Amino acid sequence: MPIEILHIAAECYPAAKVGGLGDVVGALPKYLNAAGSNTGVVIPKYRTKWLESHCYEEVFRGTVRLHARLVPFAIERVVGEDLGFGLYVADIPGRFDRPGIYGDTEGRGYGDEVERNLSFQMAVLHWVHAFEEKPAVLHCHDHHTGLIPFMVRNCPEFAGLKDVPTVFTIHNGMYQGAFSWRKGDLLPFYYASFRGLLDWSDAINPMASAIRCAWRVTTVSPGYLGELREHSLGLENLFRWEEAKCRGILNGIDSEVWDPAQDRFLAHRLEDGDWNGFKKSNKAVLCERFDIRPDRPLFTFIGRLVREKGADIIPEVVKNYLYSGREICFVVLGSGDPHLADLFRRMKAHFPGFFDCSIEYNEQLSHQLYAGSDFLFMPSRVEPCGLNQLYAMRYG
Ligand code: GLC
Repeated sequence: MPIEILHIAAECYPAAKVGGLGDVVGALPKYLNAAGSNTGVVIPKYRTKWLESHCYEEVFRGTVRLHARLVPFAIERVVGEDLGFGLYVADIPGRFDRPGIYGDTEGRGYGDEVERNLSFQMAVLHWVHAFEEKPAVLHCHDHHTGLIPFMVRNCPEFAGLKDVPTVFTIHNGMYQGAFSWRKGDLLPFYYASFRGLLDWSDAINPMASAIRCAWRVTTVSPGYLGELREHSLGLENLFRWEEAKCRGILNGIDSEVWDPAQDRFLAHRLEDGDWNGFKKSNKAVLCERFDIRPDRPLFTFIGRLVREKGADIIPEVVKNYLYSGREICFVVLGSGDPHLADLFRRMKAHFPGFFDCSIEYNEQLSHQLYAGSDFLFMPSRVEPCGLNQLYAMRYG
């Protein structure tokens, strides 16, 4: 069956996830399929554990040109796993065959982001260009795929896709992927008169370009669209000009993956609606794993250790609470800023029985924490449409 809707993204749960983007890209297609469309997802082929342990069938082979360099690639379909949608990966040796998605395990960026994103987007378009039946929609997510709406319209190489509608969804407008015109030669050939559709403040800005070139732009909540019109690191006017094609659509969660009665990640599942038993037994498991006490209310932070998520506020808040003599516990789960991570490790030594942390991305443990915690602590400065509060409510 031909692919009708193709989602193009940097993350897709369970294959490759850093945050909520991965969750949404791993869930929405499943429900679109259930609603009767044929939806596929394509992401880069990283060296994540999940992607390393699956089998593939090659569906396309080609070459992208980055200025003077020819980069061979293959598009492969994941076989032997029913995700509820077809998952495809772009295997681009030398660019994505690394364990981290955006950076190494220490949280440092890779430095060739522009080449990585461009080669991925071009590889996907070469593949789609060869489809016998063109998709009804190309759905791009965040700046990593933001140049696709421009390329399908203005690059002769992809002329066959000119009339394919594009949707661009903004999960995080703070990362726009802007890069210098000095790297402009890496782009595929386009008609020079369209140069302005790439430019924002004298740089090539994939987010801005997508807002101009996509047929429709969506944000992950209606409120976030309003916020972007007021604060979007310089794109405010663009959001106002393009208002007519923008819509805020509230995210949802995958209630099959996040089901307290079925969740295989949990030590104790919800039985016969016994929420007290569910919370208590799961909290007991956390008290074994972490240095915290069951008789104290447990506040948990789960997320990337970055400013947007307010992770830098945590140390001050925790210290204020604990020094004022309140008998509560805190647990932090996440990775990111190495300085913050160090600070959390020191706090753990300083407040035994009150504060503990696990500096990592750990999907299984995050489920256990939602199930066993009393409160979710979510001090985000920017939260387009957090999923954590939804997971927390679903887990009582
Ligand atoms: C980004 C946003 C988050 C949202 C997620 C999925 O990670 O920061 O608020 O839930 O995308 O759309």
